[in-house]
Amino acid sequence: MKIGAEHAALITGASSGIGRALALALAKKGVRITVADISEEHGYETVRLVEEVHRNLAKRLESPSALFVQCDVTKPGNLVAAFDMHQQTFGHLDICVNNAGIADLKSFLDDRSVDGKGSWRKTVDINLTAVIDGTRIAVQAMEGRGGVILNVASAAGLYPSSPQPIYSASKAGVVMFTRSLSKLKAKGIRVNALCPEFIVTPLVEQLSATQRKWIENSRGYISMDKIIEGSFMLLEDESKAGACLWITNQRGFEYWPDKEEEKKYRLSSAGAKLQRKPPPHLETPPPIPKEFHKVVVHKLSADFRAATKIVTVFYKPPVKPGHILIKVLYAGVNASDINFSSGFYHGREIAATKLPYDSGFEAIGLVAGMGEGVSADAIRLGSPVATVFDGGFSEYREIAAKHAFPVPAAIPEIVAILTSGLTASIGLEQAGKMKSGETVLVTAAAGGTGQFAVQLAKIAGNKVVATCGGARKAALLRGIGVDRVIDYTQENIKLVLKREFPNGVNIVYESVGGEMFQTCMNSLAVFGRMVLIGMISQYAGETPAEGWKPGNYPGLCEKLLAKSQTLTGFYVNHYRKLFKEHIEKLYNLYSAGDLKITIDPTRFVGLNSVADAVEYLHSGHSIGKVVVQVAPDAVPAQQSRL
Ligand code: NAI
Repeated sequence: MKIGAEHAALITGASSGIGRALALALAKKGVRITVADISEEHGYETVRLVEEVHRNLAKRLESPSALFVQCDVTKPGNLVAAFDMHQQTFGHLDICVNNAGIADLKSFLDDRSVDGKGSWRKTVDINLTAVIDGTRIAVQAMEGRGGVILNVASAAGLYPSSPQPIYSASKAGVVMFTRSLSKLKAKGIRVNALCPEFIVTPLVEQLSATQRKWIENSRGYISMDKIIEGSFMLLEDESKAGACLWITNQRGFEYWPDKEEEKKYRLSSAGAKLQRKPPPHLETPPPIPKEFHKVVVHKLSADFRAATKIVTVFYKPPVKPGHILIKVLYAGVNASDINFSSGFYHGREIAATKLPYDSGFEAIGLVAGMGEGVSADAIRLGSPVATVFDGGFSEYREIAAKHAFPVPAAIPEIVAILTSGLTASIGLEQAGKMKSGETVLVTAAAGGTGQFAVQLAKIAGNKVVATCGGARKAALLRGIGVDRVIDYTQENIKLVLKREFPNGVNIVYESVGGEMFQTCMNSLAVFGRMVLIGMISQYAGETPAEGWKPGNYPGLCEKLLAKSQTLTGFYVNHYRKLFKEHIEKLYNLYSAGDLKITIDPTRFVGLNSVADAVEYLHSGHSIGKVVVQVAPDAVPAQQSRL
């Protein structure tokens, strides 16, 4: 966020010290200011100084450009009234600085009152409770439009302060409160905390001479310029949400916690493991079969039904060393299943030499048998495992244990996480170089992988535009937080993109191909990245036997060159090393309720229904992930979920 004259800010405690300095620094950028402070006299003085700064700007601001509201931040009613006054005067809130704070020189141990209402309680009320209230009301005011909240904590919130334990506790509360709000970024609202050491302000001037001497001789004072610089870092850097900036005289700016510290607790990082305890497992694992069925491609065709047939496999135990035998419960259906059956995925000539070959990219099931040498740490008889490997459309499968991912449950939602979720998660991160604060366009967004892409882009703090066909899909996308849904049955995608995103979008997650690819390329911004994950509209070709027809995009090189753009192909199997980490990340988001996974409600049961499911996906009517329940005997919920 580049702070400028289009913004308006409310700052508590801006009658003095840091609050006033920040009000003046923001005023220099043309920001309109509301000063919310208990001190009337000094508050009006800040307003006068802000207006003076505004008068000296090159471009004149409309009057009033600054406002004082007398407000005791410990009274929620006062705070609500201050935010209301701000909205009435300036119409929008873009920046909120919860800055009012006090230091209490009395010891809390001297409070011998029956109700514990010593002055220490006021410190908690102003320094912590009011920050929670201020954040709450600011988020409500910013919802829909976005904004940034800066909570002024202290270095004393990062490490203990023996002379001021209550001050330290209240500021540590602000730090943890702020860090816990990082996910508001998905709503376009960033909350950050400033944690400086000592600055010369009235708050510090009231300390005893001995304490001030100690500060001067040990840590020294930080200049107000550094405080303003740090505040702007937190206000402007779109990647900072839930961040705490520690400012010291000795080392300058540091974000806390650092990466090493963060690794120790962050569940969704690579270090987190889904299986910490012995895996959940059924007491009685599925039986080892004498025979089972699977779907194989026996001739090359984009007509999946014609290309495939169901064959019987006669199984001879024991399970091979290093392998496991899985009873498949669910298999996922993907747009590329017809690409795979037409042989276009890996080249028709090579594919023809491999006929007949297994089909289905992903599956989830329970371990029915284990060969010698398979470690029982993560995989046990009866435990749920996922596979992202050719051959998913099979009732049983024997595969090398190293290719199976232990998962907490054999449920359809985890099938969706496999190819579809992994493609979105790894594709946006590795190929799209997705960060925050950009506009991300997702095509076929209500499909298996699109639903992941839009949510991951939102979680990362981006604005998300999504295309789909039909009201049901548009409703799903709105429900998962998409900022602008373009339903192509109602609106012209090209026109909407041109009108509403004249500077282009920064990232495109594209899976449709053909004309949609052209439209997306034309709406890509300078430095834009297009992640090409597929071309569903081209897979079927003119006739099924003919399959995929190469696209023809005149002027593509010229467009890329003229705008320094990147067009990146993405094939998920090239990123196998990252699968485990990303399955864990996606499952953690899902189980925390931060990621919604939609499974198409149409039921496909048994291998006989695989061709129906593939055709259904290509009919354009499916929504979310299409899954086949491979085991025809219904899987009891307690069994698959254990
Ligand atoms: P300051 O004393 O100059 O300013 C504090 C402001 O808060 C004053 O304008 C005061 O009127 C206002 N205020 C106090 N109680 C209030 C209430 N109940 N309702 C509304 N306004 C109220 O102090 P300074 O240093 O500018 O402090 C600002 C923030 O920075 C505080 O949260 C403080 O804890 C924090 N801080 C200060 C450091 C320092 O060394 N000065 C170091 C680290 C953090």
